[in-house]
Amino acid sequence: MKRVNIMQGKIIEVSNLTKIYDKKIKAVDDISFDVFEGEIFGFLGPNGAGKTTAINVLTTVLKPTKGGAKVCGFDVVNQQTEVRKSIGVVPQELTADEDLTGLENILLCADLYGVPKAEAKKRANDLLELVELSDAAKRRVETYSGGMRRRLELAAGLINRPKLLFLDEPTLGLDVQTRAAIWKYIRSLKEEYKMTLFVTTHYLEEADHLCDRIAIIDHGKIVKLDTPNALKDSIGGDIMEIAVEGDPQPLIDTLKKMPTVREVSCKEDGTCRIKVKSGEQTAPEIINVVINNGLKLKRIWLSEPTLDEVYLEYTGRSIRQEEGSSEAAFKQRLAMRRSRR
Ligand SMILES: Nc1ncnc2c1ncn2[C@@H]1O[C@H](COP(=O)(O)OP(=O)(O)O)[C@@H](O)[C@H]1O
Ligand SMILES: [Mg+2]
Repeated sequence: MKRVNIMQGKIIEVSNLTKIYDKKIKAVDDISFDVFEGEIFGFLGPNGAGKTTAINVLTTVLKPTKGGAKVCGFDVVNQQTEVRKSIGVVPQELTADEDLTGLENILLCADLYGVPKAEAKKRANDLLELVELSDAAKRRVETYSGGMRRRLELAAGLINRPKLLFLDEPTLGLDVQTRAAIWKYIRSLKEEYKMTLFVTTHYLEEADHLCDRIAIIDHGKIVKLDTPNALKDSIGGDIMEIAVEGDPQPLIDTLKKMPTVREVSCKEDGTCRIKVKSGEQTAPEIINVVINNGLKLKRIWLSEPTLDEVYLEYTGRSIRQEEGSSEAAFKQRLAMRRSRR
């Protein structure tokens, strides 16, 4: 199901975009897609998939090797200044200066964009309020938590009132609660300012909850692009879960041999997740198998496929296996930043 109301003008048009590093590393491999005005568009993929490279080309930081893109109607190679004026960018690497206050950092950004001083001050205060940092505005960024830094970056990315905002892994390394808070700001930007957002992430929940459409990116290629619901529908079939009492192993062996069963995975507590072609058809068969194996059925229920299953279906592996510890990632980045100074 496509959401027709968001399909207004194209704000990003990417055609056959390729980026090769050092003549050998194909980070982005011949991708084409459009982003429509007013939508939250997600690039979902594991580390190394090519998300940051794609953003860097779209924001004119890198030149494409082949193909091209138009952003806000401007060419990313021949009209770089125009592109930069129309967009905001919140990069993956935190860029705020830790020795300056939050307010000073935003004013610095305003200066970079040529926003007049009086206007900059007003906008900075408004933005700090938007991301709930007014109270911390005059504190040095060094004293900020990870979530506060991200919110500051978000505010800084908005100083030139862009129509289109690029966010590269906006919640990387943040805890679940802080991630949810960032999502709230991102949604409010879309709703209140009618802004278009291009977000990259390797968090499935983030893509699922936040994005109107998602491109699944793997090894530099777009393997699938659609709304989260359509992606889930596209893998077809139902997920059945059953809870049994007793040793489920013989049951698993039997289930795996059934032609209507695609996949079975069981947990130690005796709950099994069964991917079937049709829940309605297979449920009675499964109940029979449980009884024939002398097991007691405690519970049976149908559930929706998750985006993880979608990801698995199209890339052949689970994104969860590749998610490193977010805490570790944050610490590593902080260490990297400190070492550069
Ligand atoms: N400056 C660079 N020089 C060479 N290779 C790079 C550079 N930046 C990224 N890569 C490589 O390109 C691929 C895509 O990286 P990246 O775009 O950062 O992916 P993601 O943001 O999805 O994690 C990776 O294999 C990465 O190692
Ligand atoms: Mg990246």
